[in-house]
Amino acid sequence: MQVLTISGARNPAGQTSQAVNAVAQGIIAAGGVVETVLLPEMHIERCRQCDDNGWGICRTQGRCVIEDDLPAIKARIRQADLVLFATPVYYADLAESLRAFLDRLRRTSAPEEFSAGIRGKRAIGICVAGGGGGGAPNCCVALERALASTGFDVYDLFPVRRQNLALKVEVLEAYGYLLAKA
Ligand SMILES: Cc1cc2nc3c(=O)[nH]c(=O)nc-3n(C[C@H](O)[C@H](O)[C@H](O)COP(=O)(O)O)c2cc1C
Repeated sequence: MQVLTISGARNPAGQTSQAVNAVAQGIIAAGGVVETVLLPEMHIERCRQCDDNGWGICRTQGRCVIEDDLPAIKARIRQADLVLFATPVYYADLAESLRAFLDRLRRTSAPEEFSAGIRGKRAIGICVAGGGGGGAPNCCVALERALASTGFDVYDLFPVRRQNLALKVEVLEAYGYLLAKA
């Protein structure tokens, strides 16, 4: 099983990364392969809402006028069997880097002829509330909506909070192992 993790966290040793790494360890232990993209390290611009009506060439050509890392990451999604999306919880919502990425992935994947390898692909989400600990379930709802409207098959979602991170890390490692074995 080849898994791509796409994370909105900027700290590779932070709480979100700990949760992602736990799933990755389980997958690898079961013989899977995991690659990781940290969105804050990538060049991803926000959608420009092209043209007066808000539609750009993405609608008809399935590509964006902005030349950044979106096409490269999209190609990696297409190669993966499953994509794990993770985000730190900001204001009970997605981190800005993941929001900007998913906004443009959705637009460029919407036309049916350009949705191959995205539409129907299995996705898992992890939302880590590392401050007061509130907002992870709301963030999961927002992530579910963003992923589903991009065309992903949202297989599972995990709300995590600072207060249960140690427990969830154990659960997520076991989950990754069982997922890859299945
Ligand atoms: C702008 C901003 C908004 C935040 N909002 C929340 C929140 O709603 N709930 C919460 O528990 N933590 C909140 N936090 C704390 C982050 O969730 C915490 O910093 C994050 O989980 C740390 O993840 P990391 O260690 O992967 O960087 C917020 C942090 C920032 C910077």
